[in-house]
Amino acid sequence: MAYRWKNDLTQADVTPKSMFLNRRQLMGGAAGLGLAAAAGGARAQGALEPNTLEEIRTYNNFYEFGTGKEDPARNAGGMVIDPWSITVDGLVDNPGEYSLASLLDGLTEEERIYRFRCVEAWSMVVPWNGFELADILAKVGVKPEAKYVAFETTVQPDVMIGVQRRVIPFPYVEGLRLDEAMHPLTMLATGIYGEPMAKQNGAPIRLVVPWKYGFKSIKSIVRISLMEEEPPASWNIINPREYGFYSNVNPTVDHPRWSQASERKIGGGLFATRQDTLMFNGYEAEVASLYEGMDLNEFY
Ligand code: MTE
Repeated sequence: MAYRWKNDLTQADVTPKSMFLNRRQLMGGAAGLGLAAAAGGARAQGALEPNTLEEIRTYNNFYEFGTGKEDPARNAGGMVIDPWSITVDGLVDNPGEYSLASLLDGLTEEERIYRFRCVEAWSMVVPWNGFELADILAKVGVKPEAKYVAFETTVQPDVMIGVQRRVIPFPYVEGLRLDEAMHPLTMLATGIYGEPMAKQNGAPIRLVVPWKYGFKSIKSIVRISLMEEEPPASWNIINPREYGFYSNVNPTVDHPRWSQASERKIGGGLFATRQDTLMFNGYEAEVASLYEGMDLNEFY
């Protein structure tokens, strides 16, 4: 890895202040849980009300640009996103360095309105534009031995203040099991609300896996590798006890330092009632079969 992991980090370095704030809010908000439970059921069935573009673009996690929620919007302007190419390698029939246009050429762009649930217990609803990852994988040809897909984010030290400060190890990496990657809900997104993806949201192309905690949805992807072994994943490397490889949204498996039973929807205002977190973030009917027979307490 080109950017060495600083050895003298303490917990405070890798845990943003907002996590502690969330925890405090959570404890303060516990009394409202009964109410939230009632609202949760209705929400599960009702239509999703997307967040505003403004909310989606100003409250971000993108540690390459700093650890504060407003840092990415403030600092990501200098990231070079054109030209953009993605290296596809490993167990594929057609490896190579693809321009973004050539990788997406001929594929159908769609809009998908998905719940987005961060492991820090906040959430949004986002109208993504993009492509099914399965279509892209079909194009490059996945070899039968492949069992996992690995992803890597660009590293542009000159314009990435978080990389300069080595707030976590970079490049940011993530991975999915192949069946998760091939699932029709899994997409590579290039836009939001029909607008090109803002840099702070992971321009020009980022992963979206709506039933997993947000950190799986890696931004600004420059490498996709098909592998036989489980690939490394950034937060899992940083703190394996707190962040598992799977990281499926699960209200019954708490984070060691806070409950995952409820969440605060961004834009609801400071005193908004927390809402219940749904199993697999509300996509249980679609994805539960992927994990049949697995102990979700063990494979968190
Ligand atoms: N991808 C990279 N490269 N770097 C990051 O710090 N943060 C993750 C994920 N993808 C992150 C990343 C986390 S913790 C979340 S919650 C989402 O991006 C946030 O996406 P958003 O800012 O578009 O809401």
